[in-house]
Amino acid sequence: MKKKKLIEFDKILSKQAPPFRDRSELPRGKYDFAIAYPDPDSLPIDDLVRALTQGLSEEGSDLALYPDVQGYGPLREYVSHKLKRDRKMTVDPEQIVLGDGSSQHISMIIDLLIDPGDTVITEDFCYSNTLTKLKISGAEIHGIECDDSGMISDTLERVIADLVAHEKRPKLIYTIPTFQNPQGWTMSLERRKALLDIASFYEIPILEDDCYVDLRYEGENVPAIHSLDPTGQVMYVGSFSKTIAPGLRMGYFAGPEEIIGRFRMVRKTSGSGVNEFAALAIHRYAISGLDNHVKKILKIQRDRRDTMVSTIGEMFGSNAKWSVPEGGLYLWMQMPDSVDLSSITDQALRAGVGYQPGTMFAADGNSGESYARLCFGYNSPEDISKGIEVLAGVFTKKGFF
Ligand SMILES: Cc1ncc(COP(=O)(O)O)c(C=O)c1O
Repeated sequence: MKKKKLIEFDKILSKQAPPFRDRSELPRGKYDFAIAYPDPDSLPIDDLVRALTQGLSEEGSDLALYPDVQGYGPLREYVSHKLKRDRKMTVDPEQIVLGDGSSQHISMIIDLLIDPGDTVITEDFCYSNTLTKLKISGAEIHGIECDDSGMISDTLERVIADLVAHEKRPKLIYTIPTFQNPQGWTMSLERRKALLDIASFYEIPILEDDCYVDLRYEGENVPAIHSLDPTGQVMYVGSFSKTIAPGLRMGYFAGPEEIIGRFRMVRKTSGSGVNEFAALAIHRYAISGLDNHVKKILKIQRDRRDTMVSTIGEMFGSNAKWSVPEGGLYLWMQMPDSVDLSSITDQALRAGVGYQPGTMFAADGNSGESYARLCFGYNSPEDISKGIEVLAGVFTKKGFF
């Protein structure tokens, strides 16, 4: 029986309520280059089952308790060791907070720091969910132009100096310095140091989003900005989404006690914590099998990247430019300025190909029409080739070349 509606909830929402979103998700193409999914066939399901079984038999009865508000201690210890070993970061387990993916931490940081009208610095094209959250929070976003080495330092300094002169000192600099989403570059060491210097001079905290760092196919590791920072002004997020699976929803944050204390309060007052069931499995799995698994998936993803790069070369030739990232999961493709790739996503999907247009990642909310982000993580090399051929067919039909 249909209930008679008594209350118009839309009319009684608080000022902080976010905009409405319906259930419709982005439809997926057979050739799914839209989202950075990993290869479903190489997920370590059996090992995760074993790890969960072990975790539950050893500590399962602790699930009777509410978990630590910062997340399962042994997994935080693992993350602390990993950050030391891989990123030369010195972070105690007490300075680490686990979360429902790294996006939960990004969202909590924005909630803690940003009031409507506050200014925030990002890269000119960056992770769309961070941009959406910033917009909902009423932030004024300033995207900094980037080249192959990351944010251009002179531009960064000029924009910040100008904002400070107008009493709009940025509250935060958000950066994805390694295998940037969507542009694919890795910020050079020199630029990392320059970014730190500028941020220290103007006393602006940095949020370093390093969620792709483990997916390096070639080239030299570049130190984490956090590891270069003697002042504690850099906050850091990482994730198990890109190395194990996004469905696990497990990410980590390292940052100052003033922020972590607020995270604890958010968790305490909302009754939320970090899923200890998943954490038990991830911890047992991480200490025994994660390094080998990463080695295995690096080979798979590198092949997929190479296949996408070579097929794009064959099909698009001089009609497009594209990045060849040393790691991560995306190619960033640019067509001539006259081409609007945001106008034909539906057509491409009907032909079976999903991709995201550059406009989704634009800090200014509207540029990037001639760009597309293409993820190579999910489909097999054969399907990547086929999908790029189909996409080239759609573009040709549309008269793009
Ligand atoms: C740059 C960046 N940061 C954070 C995330 C969020 O990852 P998760 O919440 O799954 O850890 C993503 C996901 O694609 C991303 O691309």
